Amino acid sequence: MQTRVLTGITTTGTPHLGNYVGAIRPAVAASRRADVDAFYFMADYHALIKSDDPARIERSRLEIAATWLAAGLDPQRVTFYRQSDIPEIPELTWFLTCVTAKGLLNRAQAYKASVDKNTEAGEDVDAGITAGLYMYPVLMAADILAFNANKVPVGRDQIQHIEMARDIAQRFNHTYGREFFVLPEVVIEEQVATLPGLDGRKMSKSYDNTIPLFSGGKKQLRETIMPGEPKDPDSSALFTIFHAFASDVESAAFRQTLEDGIGWGEAKQLLFERIEADVAPMRERYDALIAQPAAIEEILQEGARKARMTAAPLIAVLRDAIGLRSGAALSAPVTKAAVKTDKMPRIASFRDGDGSFRFRLFSADGEELLLSKSFADPKAAGVMQKRLKSLGAVGAVLQMRTHGMALDIDGEQIADTPDYHDEQARDEAIARLREALDQLAAQD
Ligand code: TRP
Repeated sequence: MQTRVLTGITTTGTPHLGNYVGAIRPAVAASRRADVDAFYFMADYHALIKSDDPARIERSRLEIAATWLAAGLDPQRVTFYRQSDIPEIPELTWFLTCVTAKGLLNRAQAYKASVDKNTEAGEDVDAGITAGLYMYPVLMAADILAFNANKVPVGRDQIQHIEMARDIAQRFNHTYGREFFVLPEVVIEEQVATLPGLDGRKMSKSYDNTIPLFSGGKKQLRETIMPGEPKDPDSSALFTIFHAFASDVESAAFRQTLEDGIGWGEAKQLLFERIEADVAPMRERYDALIAQPAAIEEILQEGARKARMTAAPLIAVLRDAIGLRSGAALSAPVTKAAVKTDKMPRIASFRDGDGSFRFRLFSADGEELLLSKSFADPKAAGVMQKRLKSLGAVGAVLQMRTHGMALDIDGEQIADTPDYHDEQARDEAIARLREALDQLAAQD
């Protein structure tokens, strides 16, 4: 059994060494595990909440895609896509919005922090706060639930969002009476230490102590690491960064050199060389990728196609469950008088090769619409046929699959449709199935 692991990367800013060590490298490693079905995506809709600069959004999407690919993400193995290429996500966002308590969103930390800031400044509580920021947790829940992800690796600041996704999923399941969504679990990578900057504080844009991963090339990497004779040379940050790239043995040798009183400049040179050894081959791939945006686009389009193969059937089930059904799939109400007894759908029982009892439902035109599961007991099969006859189209709960559908009665899956070659054929078959069920119910 594979575990579906899903995470989003907000596309603002340019990746630095801290992002690489803390997020990208472990995620790429996890995606290679045989028991992991990884879904990694660029959260570019979320980026719009943080930035209204189109050039920055565009640049960041491209850089982040190239970075992940250069870092070894294999798009054949992993489903790698952009959020904004999946129309099922905003659609699901709305379905979820309609079951989400406003009070839940009032309690979101990011929203509350903005409100507190306004209150302190004596402004209106909601000054400068967009509905996008307010809705952030629902969009994130849709990201996760559209793929029924089991595990979501995130930073600590995102734990509340995963808890909200669980809340929202439960609320939806409860409202519509079925386990549509599995409840996602948060994963906090405890063993991945946050990388310090050279000043010893967490490497972060807000401390202005980041070392760029690729941008500016080898020269920039060297220049960011090299300068500055520290007032009070503390080599611990230097060592920690070194160790994030080197083996224990290599790192022990480096520590010895530091203890032997190596010059600060020389130590930094060694650090630079060690990082460069890892980064250089990736940078080469990165530069090649960045030079071909069309090739990246193709990879992402293929990723979106794969992602939608998972999301679309689920959304089809949800649409059906909440009552957004195609008019073509709703047959006009069949009245008893209108039922022509010479041309009616029929149910045919048979005994399967293994001795079990099954039946098929045929339309009035003789098209096979359903094949039941196997019943060991002919009486049970008979009871189910009776239920099917009295069900009517409104009582039919259909589970969408990629090609066909399954019919549930009383929460139990009792029959399958044949496979249809595309979505349209499947949707047209829904119409014929509903019509046949209505005809049977009207005759009953
Ligand atoms: N909010 C996340 C962050 O800032 C990014 C994100 C968006 C995400 N959608 C997600 C993470 C879904 C995990 C799952 O880090």
